[in-house]
Amino acid sequence: MMLSVSKLTLDHEPALSGVERLPVMGWKIESRHRNVRQTSYQLQISHDICFNQIVFDSGVQHSEQSNNIVLANVALIPSARYFVRVRVQDNYAETSAWSEPAGFITGLLDSGWRAEFISAEKPEDKDNSKATLVRKTFEADSHKSISSAFAHVSAWGIYQLYVNGNKVGTDELTPGWTSYAHHLLYQTYDLTDILCGGLNVIGAMLGAGWYKGDMGFTRDRNYYGENTALICQVVITYTDGSQDIINTDESWEGDDSPILFAEIYDGEIYDARQEQTGWSSQKFTPRVWRPVRVMAGDKTVLKAQASGAVKQTERLKPVAMITTPQGDRVIDFGQNLSGWVEFCVKGRAGQKVILRHFEVLDAAGNVYLDNLRSAKQRTEYVLRGEGEECWHPHFTWQGFRYVKVEEYPGDVDLNNFTAIVLHSAMEQTGEFSCSSAELNQLHHNILWGLKGNFIDVPTDCPQRDERLGWTGDAQIFCRTASYLMQTRNFFAKWLTDLRYDQTPEGGVPHVVPDILTNHCGKDRLLADGGTHSASAWADAAVINPWTMYLMYGDTRVLEDQYDSMKGWIDFMEAHSEHHLWRYKLQFGDWVALDAKEGSYFGATPNDLTCTAYFAYSTLLFSKAASVLNRTADHRKYADLHDKIVHRFQQEFFTPAGRLAARTQTAHILALYFNLVPEAFRQRTTETLVELLNEHDGHLVTGFVGTPYFCHALSQNGRLKEAWQLLLKDDFPSWLYQVKAGATTIWEHWDGIKPDGSMWSADMNSFNHYAYGAVGEWLYRVAAGIEADEDQPGFKHAIIQPRPGGGLDWLDARYQSIYGAIGVRWEVSGQTVDLRVSIPANTCATLLLTDGKTLHETDGIDFVPCVQGYTAEVGSGEYRVKYALV
Ligand code: BGC
Repeated sequence: MMLSVSKLTLDHEPALSGVERLPVMGWKIESRHRNVRQTSYQLQISHDICFNQIVFDSGVQHSEQSNNIVLANVALIPSARYFVRVRVQDNYAETSAWSEPAGFITGLLDSGWRAEFISAEKPEDKDNSKATLVRKTFEADSHKSISSAFAHVSAWGIYQLYVNGNKVGTDELTPGWTSYAHHLLYQTYDLTDILCGGLNVIGAMLGAGWYKGDMGFTRDRNYYGENTALICQVVITYTDGSQDIINTDESWEGDDSPILFAEIYDGEIYDARQEQTGWSSQKFTPRVWRPVRVMAGDKTVLKAQASGAVKQTERLKPVAMITTPQGDRVIDFGQNLSGWVEFCVKGRAGQKVILRHFEVLDAAGNVYLDNLRSAKQRTEYVLRGEGEECWHPHFTWQGFRYVKVEEYPGDVDLNNFTAIVLHSAMEQTGEFSCSSAELNQLHHNILWGLKGNFIDVPTDCPQRDERLGWTGDAQIFCRTASYLMQTRNFFAKWLTDLRYDQTPEGGVPHVVPDILTNHCGKDRLLADGGTHSASAWADAAVINPWTMYLMYGDTRVLEDQYDSMKGWIDFMEAHSEHHLWRYKLQFGDWVALDAKEGSYFGATPNDLTCTAYFAYSTLLFSKAASVLNRTADHRKYADLHDKIVHRFQQEFFTPAGRLAARTQTAHILALYFNLVPEAFRQRTTETLVELLNEHDGHLVTGFVGTPYFCHALSQNGRLKEAWQLLLKDDFPSWLYQVKAGATTIWEHWDGIKPDGSMWSADMNSFNHYAYGAVGEWLYRVAAGIEADEDQPGFKHAIIQPRPGGGLDWLDARYQSIYGAIGVRWEVSGQTVDLRVSIPANTCATLLLTDGKTLHETDGIDFVPCVQGYTAEVGSGEYRVKYALV
């Protein structure tokens, strides 16, 4: 069979568990032909995998659409399983077989919550961080057979669900972190094969987590409440259609757990002697447990999370055992990561394993803990003393490459230690390699920056007493992240919380979920300056939804966020004077090297940064309005955009075309956001190059300028300088970090200075993805895989590779929602050998920039254009050779 559907997705995922509205459907098509277009599809939804109980049949739809398909009018029933399949026909009149089915399970829908929040804590436990257990024994009807059983579960705190002796599912740190007062996610687990007729036991372990734990750099606790609680509703459906429902209620019992302490920043203390073996299994006869308390709580905030919970994603073995000059035993995992250390140990009851997790050794090769600030990152395990004991923590995570072994009975054998990598489950979509080993390492570091910081929310860093959803970091890294991984559902979730935590006036908090407002009395900067609405940070409200649209072509996120986006633009307008704005505390070009000694604030003036972003976000919002056919808004905000640009030009350009702020970042923003009068574009570009040369080709930019530096150059005829900047390897530069042995991206260009000393203990993360935002340049420009906003989601791509930097070859693949887009170029002398693959049912504009002579065209009809040569191509694999002279 030539034509096939290789992957069917639901909300861009292979499967969903806990669906409240019908997901958008999409699929990838494979064919050996070129120029393949879908001409029709037929999609079916069924209750059974054999498609005997079909609940929806689209019939043959004559449509090219193969992604983001929204089906109306399919009434879903709660706690039920569904399967979807599709077959397609193409322009070669071939018909595919039915695809492999994709499945989803519905949430509670409007059947509602009968379960109550229950707690095994006492009111006075509000100040402690012990974990508790809750359990219930129940009978399933043994005269009937179970057709399905699903548990819908959430908690105040972090929970792990156990049934009949085992942990259920592979999620960790559930229910994750959201704006709990408005939005609490529940997970849905399939218990069909776990429950049995007759006696069953269900239980959960609950830790403090973000809900009542000790959070934020001001170290407050109980942000959302004072006691942990579980809510769980199990729906058992028998083959005769009857149901049993098991709820959390006063009939459950509770007890203390072996976890004596668990906190996100500080780690976990576990006393295995306190384990009650088999506590969640049928054979267990408990000592007397205490009654649970039924807690009053708002259940309308509970929303199903269908995918994307944190998982254990990789396991790494240590690469070395080090004894430091100070005599500490240190295990090196060779990679800075977020997660846990799992170990196995034998010893006597009461002996301990104590580990401290950290990121870097200092210049002398000793353990460096200072940059963790108040976060302890410590785990302690007290042995049971029976045979081999293996353990990892539960309700915390650590950001580390190294582990100091403070106590461990017997010899430290590296075979007994494993690092478990944790992050939100996302499919990796970007692959990159090239002839420069350093650049490959940079790409690796960017990817690991993502892995280390996409832990349910996009965090700034995973190690110190912060780990907050700083909006600016998430904004500048969003496009890069979306090349590397399928981030649509991750960001859709976080943007929901952004929207809930916005101020009534439309202001956007600095961190989402917002735990700074009303909690930063101890932080002078925030106490005086406010906790919301900083330019480039708050713009996440607009830029991130727009990026989801560009990368995934999905209008749902735009629709869901529309009012939030608009609210932010209106906020800026309300606080602007003649379209120039600034507001209270601004971070500006944060941690730029042109800051005054000892300051975090870069030299670019705030009103320039604010107004530049005001223009950019307003433009994106007006486009979003047009996509959603909100014509009046489109016109209104397009007009507002013109006015802001005009004002920007009036205020910041001299009549002769000099940009008033002589900083790299000011020039980058003006160029990349198209704020430069056309007549001054060349001069602005030349000044940017001058500013670069003043630092011997180095950047001195911070969070705001860095992401777009290479773009501002390559878009304005300075490709060579963009490559040179990217490949600089002395301080300050991206490759300086690589050469210094970094395995993730640093927060500061001078995190470790050339003399080996540290920038500062105060704010010096070695796993901060922000400067990794250059990653998008590797995909969009170096490889040339660019989205087209008129046909988003890469339905039509713009393939414009820009070889350079003296690289012999580069190979990148981006797994779009239609299939993999691949670009590989090899350069020898002036000749470029280019291979491109375009997925079925998409097309691309191929641009051979600076191409002067065509050697091999592989059947493509190129035409000369301003840049070189161009052609429109359909799907398929192509190989062309051209010369730059
Ligand atoms: C965070 C940053 C964040 C910044 C805001 C820092 O503490 O780590 O990445 O954006 O504060 O100024």
